Amino acid sequence: MAVYKLNINGKKLQVDVDPTTPMLWVLRDHLDLTGTKYGCGIAQCGACTIHLDGNAMRSCQLPVSAVGDQSITTIEGLSENGDHPVQKAWLEHDVPQCGYCQAGQIMSAAALLQNNASPSDADIDTAMNGNICRCGTYTRIKAAIKTAAN
Ligand code: FES
Repeated sequence: MAVYKLNINGKKLQVDVDPTTPMLWVLRDHLDLTGTKYGCGIAQCGACTIHLDGNAMRSCQLPVSAVGDQSITTIEGLSENGDHPVQKAWLEHDVPQCGYCQAGQIMSAAALLQNNASPSDADIDTAMNGNICRCGTYTRIKAAIKTAAN
């Protein structure tokens, strides 16, 4: 076990965990930030996507010991009141079906737009390629990202 001081959603939070613990479980089990979801655990589905210094990152394969001073944002910290442009566009397009993957989808979309304010269709496809949705909401996801970009 080791103590880690983490910068999460603008707060300094401390955990005492095994160094190999994936951030997904630090967030969910130690910090009660359960908006980040477990899907596959092997960086294949995107349900666990967070931001690490503003870039989309699979938290299931990110050991707590690798985070250091980098800032983490989770779905809980993306906006104050759910009013991030991506979240508003998600509501406008009624994107979710079962909803399980959507926090990860939104975090990937927000990271894309932060780095590329006017993504092309190909940019969107590339950025969102690793986020799987078993309900098949991909068409609405793409439309919502285009709305959020305008
Ligand atoms: Fe991390 Fe699937 S749970 S990518």
